[in-house]
Amino acid sequence: MSAHGEPVAMTARRSGPLRGVAEVPGDKSISHRSLILGALAVGETRVTGLLEGQDVLDTAKAMRAFGAEVTRLGAGEWSVHGVGVGGFAEPAEVIDCGNSGTGVRLIMGAMATSPITATFTGDASLRKRPMGRVTDPLALFGARSYGRKGGRLPMTVVGAADPVPVRYTVPMPSAQVKSAVLLAGLNAPGETVVIEKEPTRDHSERMLRGFGAEVRVEDTTEGRVITLTGRPELKPQTVAVPRDPSSAAFPVCAALIVEGSDITVPGVSQNPTRNGLYTTLVEMGAEIEFQNPREEGGEPVADLRVRFSALKGIEVPEERAASMIDEYPVLSVVAACAEGTTVMRGVKELRVKESDRIDAMARGLEAMGVRIEEDEDTLIVHGMGAGGVPGGGTAKTHIDHRIAMSFLVLGLASQKPVSIDDGSPIATSFPVFEGLMRGLGAEVARTGA
Ligand code: S3P
Repeated sequence: MSAHGEPVAMTARRSGPLRGVAEVPGDKSISHRSLILGALAVGETRVTGLLEGQDVLDTAKAMRAFGAEVTRLGAGEWSVHGVGVGGFAEPAEVIDCGNSGTGVRLIMGAMATSPITATFTGDASLRKRPMGRVTDPLALFGARSYGRKGGRLPMTVVGAADPVPVRYTVPMPSAQVKSAVLLAGLNAPGETVVIEKEPTRDHSERMLRGFGAEVRVEDTTEGRVITLTGRPELKPQTVAVPRDPSSAAFPVCAALIVEGSDITVPGVSQNPTRNGLYTTLVEMGAEIEFQNPREEGGEPVADLRVRFSALKGIEVPEERAASMIDEYPVLSVVAACAEGTTVMRGVKELRVKESDRIDAMARGLEAMGVRIEEDEDTLIVHGMGAGGVPGGGTAKTHIDHRIAMSFLVLGLASQKPVSIDDGSPIATSFPVFEGLMRGLGAEVARTGA
């Protein structure tokens, strides 16, 4: 669905204590991968807890277009009949990945080593994002691509009829690029090697192994070296998707800044390649208890009990960036409500997300009365203390779900309401956000409703 419907203006107001249990949806990264790996396995994969956000629904539709049978059995419960590695059919339609960079980049990888051609597009946000970071390594396998200037969508990818395995060092910290190369490597004979200088989320490696591929991971002086043996027969799996730590971040951060709050967010993935935000919040003084640590669906999870906390600004270690890359927007909101300054360096990847997130947060926070400093790779937020942010403005969300949710969280603790121009992108990753937040006591509503 690339058609971006009517904008939905929303407003959040200073709220009483947030209380209750926040059951956030399934992890977006794992949901995409369940459908794609299910489509590449031979037989039926069953998925429970799938995130039914638009991004993932677009990936489900794409997998059907490549020949897999993908069926919704019930809430979050899906069945995928895969076609096997190398079994993708040539799609008869343009593959529209909507707002999803993960969807388009992983699917490009998955089809690039089959003798088929596919044309990809997306919404106005996705059509601005760079695809060269994926098509460059895919060219090494023998795939060709024809996109708009600057490697932008719409883009046609001609898969390699006779793929060769590659050895590729990912130039930027990106799990999407790593995953695209690994998925392409599935249908190349021999060993494909991906090297990442900084570790990024490792769901692809974990899940490829779970589906029966041979994946070796070594930590070396070069970085993390991941070796995949090509042409495996992937075996269908039962995947239980854990709750998304990136979605959990919104109710968690809201509870930390709204006075008197005390909430529980159960079953949140604590995968160390994803939990940098939680480490950072604890360093800022957040009262978060990680209760009942256990393993679910191959991922470490815990129930988070979160209380309103007196927070102080910190310098976030640069090497933590990859493990919290999607959480900087909401962290900058928390930083605005903390005492002192929070310094976030090494964050230039934020400029090529669903929007330029450094710019979107900086301009929006300034509109709410917060002092910001920024450069290409840095965001500095001067905190105003609990209840200290004036608010009273409208933030532009630039078709970016995380910008939209971050500013609504800020409005729950600012002096005057905070509005956003468009909350409709929230449906890409967290379709139940509004109801869930209201259930906790948050005053969030569509403007005029
Ligand atoms: C994702 C990787 C990250 C992240 C995105 C999901 C994934 O992007 O921002 O939301 O599922 O692999 P990059 O690979 O561009 O860092």
